[in-house]
Amino acid sequence: MKSILQTIDLRKTYRVGKVETPVLHGISLEVKEGEFIAIMGPSGCGKSTLLHIMGGLLKPTSGRVIVDGEDISSMSDSKRTEIRRRKIGFVFQRFNLFPTLTAEGNLRLAERIYSGNGNRDDSRRREILRLLQLENKMHHKPMELSGGEQQRVALARAVINKPAIILADEPTGNLDSENSRIVLEMFQKLNEKFGQTIVMVTHNPEAARACHRIIQMRDGLIVGEIVK
Ligand SMILES: Nc1ncnc2c1ncn2[C@@H]1O[C@H](COP(=O)(O)OP(=O)(O)OP(=O)(O)O)[C@@H](O)[C@H]1O
Ligand SMILES: [Mg+2]
Repeated sequence: MKSILQTIDLRKTYRVGKVETPVLHGISLEVKEGEFIAIMGPSGCGKSTLLHIMGGLLKPTSGRVIVDGEDISSMSDSKRTEIRRRKIGFVFQRFNLFPTLTAEGNLRLAERIYSGNGNRDDSRRREILRLLQLENKMHHKPMELSGGEQQRVALARAVINKPAIILADEPTGNLDSENSRIVLEMFQKLNEKFGQTIVMVTHNPEAARACHRIIQMRDGLIVGEIVK
């Protein structure tokens, strides 16, 4: 199967003032089209950093990131942003919803950023809201939603434009078991039905069970892999 997302010897050192914190020490990872992958590892080992670099949100100190055949690490910021908008849906570890917009408003904004102001049909949005059991929360603002509902809206926003690649940073991190189940079922459905590629950082063994492959990280390195 074709490779849709690849990192080659990725290294990252954060610099805050004069303090340097090396976080990634050479990560090479290939994700095939249609794969559903979990990344696991202790807190602070660099999972979010890796995901942000894979999604073009953060630049590596060295190494390369290839998205669907294109090297995004050597691109200008605007070109990289464009690729991200076209191909990648990102679920952040913290929700990042716009507080002044309703659930539906947050989704519409994501649609507009993707496709401009043209007319579009509402069916995809309705289906996603239904899958995530959010139909009756459409007109609520983030403040009027529970943590689990906010997380599901953030998820809906990440997948609304059918990105080829979904990168999710602990999407069930703040959810109870019922909400986690809803989210995982949606991921599985998107993966099986639409062939969307998913890379998910998680601490949740339930979540990891739903995947094809589990990547184990420790101290900025890949230390193991379980293929199912
Ligand atoms: N912007 C930043 N500036 C400086 N250091 C940072 C920055 N972001 C993260 N770090 C440090 O990099 C290391 C890895 O952070 P990262 O968020 O990638 O870990 P993680 O594996 O996602 O952890 P968690 O499971 O707790 O979310 C941590 O030691 C963190 O303090
Ligand atoms: Mg993290």
